[in-house]
Amino acid sequence: MVLGIKEYPCQLDNDELDTLIDFIDNIRYQSNPTVVKTEDNFLDCDLPVIQKLRWSYYDSCSRYWDMDVFDFKINSWIYVDWKGNSKEPYMHAHNSENPYTLSGIMYLKFTNSSGTTMFPMPGRPSYFLPNKMLTWFIFPSNLPHIPGRGMDNEKRYSLSADLYYGR
Ligand SMILES: [Fe+2]
Repeated sequence: MVLGIKEYPCQLDNDELDTLIDFIDNIRYQSNPTVVKTEDNFLDCDLPVIQKLRWSYYDSCSRYWDMDVFDFKINSWIYVDWKGNSKEPYMHAHNSENPYTLSGIMYLKFTNSSGTTMFPMPGRPSYFLPNKMLTWFIFPSNLPHIPGRGMDNEKRYSLSADLYYGR
């Protein structure tokens, strides 16, 4: 993929996905005026399927950099969108100052009509992530991007994570 974006699949079965979505539907969301997302410690939850996702994020980042990153820290959250959500996605980067950071996006559940993340490209058409569930897309955290929209009444669920060293 362009811009150093790489893909690492994560094996979740249907039961694990159902458990996960059920958990997300009942979790507390941030009172954030611009975006519908959970708190930033989603992958710290004890639920086995979430611990599996946490491990797969570490593993994917370790493979991306070809070094063990299990002593790095993780921030992670669920982003939810649907048709009629009044909060609009906006262009952003996760960590423009620190080069030793990676970000990950994983689509958990959404229909084909919903959008995927867009990465602007200099002097070229923008790049859109493939519409593929349950796979980590890992990229340098300073890349600007804008989340895709949920285009159905049914919710669009995605998981995001940042990897960084330090406190
Ligand atoms: Fe983002």
